[in-house]
Formats: sequence, C-alpha cells, structure tokens
Amino acid sequence: MSQLTYEKLHPEFGVRLRGVDVSKPLTTELTREISAAVDDYSFVCFPGQTMDDDRQLALTRQLGKPEPSHTSVGKVEYFGTIGNVQKDGTVLGSTHKKTIFLTGNNMWHSDASFKPVPAFLSIMCAYETPAEGGVTMFVSLRAAYERLSPARKAELDPLIAIHDYVYSRSKVAPDAVSPELAASLPPVRQRLVRTNPATGTKNLFLGSHVREIEGMDPAAGRALLDELTAEAIRPEHIYGHAWQPGDVVLWDNRCLLHAGAGYDADRFRRYMRQTRVSGTCSTLEEAA
Ligand SMILES: [Fe+2]
Repeated sequence: MSQLTYEKLHPEFGVRLRGVDVSKPLTTELTREISAAVDDYSFVCFPGQTMDDDRQLALTRQLGKPEPSHTSVGKVEYFGTIGNVQKDGTVLGSTHKKTIFLTGNNMWHSDASFKPVPAFLSIMCAYETPAEGGVTMFVSLRAAYERLSPARKAELDPLIAIHDYVYSRSKVAPDAVSPELAASLPPVRQRLVRTNPATGTKNLFLGSHVREIEGMDPAAGRALLDELTAEAIRPEHIYGHAWQPGDVVLWDNRCLLHAGAGYDADRFRRYMRQTRVSGTCSTLEEAA
C-alpha cells in the first residue's frame, strides 16, 4: 500500500503529497507512484522538504534527463533562480534588468515550449518567499481541451503552432534577448494539441511563446490563440500556489500553463531554485 497521502488542490488538477522525503533517493516503487501522480494531477507539491542544489539535481535525475538552461549559451547550467536574491545573498530591486527580465514569467506560459524538444517537468524548490504576493498561478490545458465541443476539437487537432522565444521576450523589452541567444533559439513548430503517452488524454499546448498558427492568416491565428487562452485562464480554472519555504513542486509543462502574479521586489526577498526534466522528443514526433 502507498505510504503517500493525497490532498487535491483544485477540482481540475493539482495534488499535495505527504509521506515522502524527496531529498533522499526514491525507491523504484515511489518513483513510479510520483510519475503516475504527475500524469494524473499535472501539479504535485511536496511540502516541508529540506533541500539543497545537490539534492534537487539528484531528484531531477531520478525523474528523467536534466535540461540545460537556455539562457547560458556555451556552458551547461541546470539551475535557474526565480526571485531577487542572488547567490551571495544580496537582493536586486524591481528596477534591475534581471528583475525586469523575470517579469516575462508573469505571462501565461509553458516552460521552454520554444525549444525543439520542450520541457517535460519543472522542479521548483522554495527557500525564501515574500510575505505578500509571489503567488504562481496554474491552469490545466487538459481541462481546457475537455471543455471544447467535438467539432472544435476536430478542427484544432491537426494544427501546428509556431513558438518563438524572441517574440515572447520582446514583449518584456525590445532588447531583452541578446543577438547571440536569439540565434541559438530559432522559432520551432509544435502541435497545438498533445496526447499524454501514458494516459491517452489530450490537451492544448499554447502560451506566451506562441507567435502564430502555421498556415493561418496571422491575425486570425492570433485571434484563435487569444480566444483559447482567455477561456483556459478564466478565474474559476486557476489554482494559485502560495509558495512556502520547504515546498518542492513538480509541474507538467506538457499540459499546464503558469504565470507569476508578481511581488514587491523592493520590499521582499524571494529565492527559489528551478531545474527541469527534458522532454523526450519534439511534439511533432509524439503519437496523436
Ligand atoms: Fe515558467
């Protein structure tokens, strides 16, 4: 029998799991149960964990292949820092370029959907969290797909979306992406509708990195994307995660969108570390 207890977080997705120390190596059985929880719930929170970077990377490796960060061209770096606290403990304020760049995370997105092989899981360990704000909002694109009519599903199923990092980051600031980084991340084609290989359930796959729909008039494609996104993120579909120090969260980028709700970087400290588990192939190679 499972040693884990399950507490649902939102009617459509999300679960809090207690009864496991994820800083220690997982048994095969536990790894299997956690992977199944990801497939079923999309968002899995383990509260009250004692982590550090080494333990987080070990956990990441147990769940798949760690994904190198896209912002470090020429060197392999698996960690990203979310927040204003730097490695040396100092704090960057709201007007610092790095803080402004991170506000790109306040748009609804799926992590690294602009890569040829998009990210599978994001793994976040929270160390310092602001006393006010700093919530991350999540919605299920599986639930959004389920709500569509059969005719609409049939219309969307074969479509291809163009994901473009330079496009999404230029919404933050025109010079947010260096020419070197831009050259390393050309636009990619991804299926608009994906299928979970373990459960067979389908979901939309979109977000702020999507520039257009292939073969559609750009304005019409934009209107379709905006309409689908607006429906997906209606307030009743949102789960807002209020981070606590000690939270370890896994979320499934294949079928969730998330967006930061912002916080006052001049008043509060925030330090969270993120790693990702890479996907296994382009969405174009996935079974429909
Ligand atoms: Fe993100």
